[in-house]
Amino acid sequence: MSKITVIGAGNVGATCVDVLATREICNEVVVIDIKENFADGKALDIWETSPVFGSDTRVTGVTNDYTKTADSDIVIITSGIPRKPGMSRDDLISTNANIVKSVTGQAIKYSPNAIIIVVANPLDVMTYTAYLTAKIDSRKVFGMAGILDTARFRSFLALELDISPKDIQTLLMGGHGDTMVPLPRYTTVAGIPITQLIKKERLDEIIQRTKVGGGEIVKLLGTSAWYAPGAAVAQMAEAILNDQKRIFPCCTLLKGEYGLENIYLGVPVKLGKNGIEQIIEIELNEEEKADMNRSAESVKGVMKVLDDMKLF
Ligand code: LAC
Repeated sequence: MSKITVIGAGNVGATCVDVLATREICNEVVVIDIKENFADGKALDIWETSPVFGSDTRVTGVTNDYTKTADSDIVIITSGIPRKPGMSRDDLISTNANIVKSVTGQAIKYSPNAIIIVVANPLDVMTYTAYLTAKIDSRKVFGMAGILDTARFRSFLALELDISPKDIQTLLMGGHGDTMVPLPRYTTVAGIPITQLIKKERLDEIIQRTKVGGGEIVKLLGTSAWYAPGAAVAQMAEAILNDQKRIFPCCTLLKGEYGLENIYLGVPVKLGKNGIEQIIEIELNEEEKADMNRSAESVKGVMKVLDDMKLF
């Protein structure tokens, strides 16, 4: 029996539940929200798709009753306010840090052995907030951003080359902000280096589009994305529950890796039943190292805002 709790029945949370259920990634999903009847309604609607899709993942929704989340294997935190046009992810910190602290504390009380995956923004610092609250091994508290950001990069490259996105492999590191570090040197199409298929100037444009990919959606929709973020976090849950040992970029606590310490940042990891089973240190050239450090500095700036809030 596997059980996942999704906190927050908003767009990202509901999409995540939908993917978990449709693809039968676990036996049971509980979605919880503070808004009266909201999670209940979303869960019922998703459960009613189960005969159509032929899924037996049991989906239930509850209003703020954490007892129903007890003994979850994975807790996914999607709660918090999304961006509006003109806002950066960092502008959300004062509201979302309080929310993430509160929901993490309640969830871990009923599921002390759970693995926690954070999706709330500003992602790197909200993951750190969950870690400080949960007080569990950092290999069991991490954030989803890299799968989303690489998915954007891969989907843009697929459009550019008119090929299947399945054949594109890439790596992207750093914070989940406009300083994220896509790595063309680690990007291939079925093993062919991307630099042999797309000219540098054009590749640079696609990299730039990737870095502000979240903002592109915010501009179009007036709020932040949910289909790709919801699907991406469900893929992490699948890797954990099935002990797939997949290699994904995830937002992880660094303890000296890449010369960085006590900071949550995106790096390639091995994801299996124990959570983060390995942090993979790849070789970076001087320019890539500088980009990574710039991204770390930007996340540290947001960590300072969290410090100043004196929540811990
Ligand atoms: C994005 C938000 C969810 O990148 O951070 O779309």
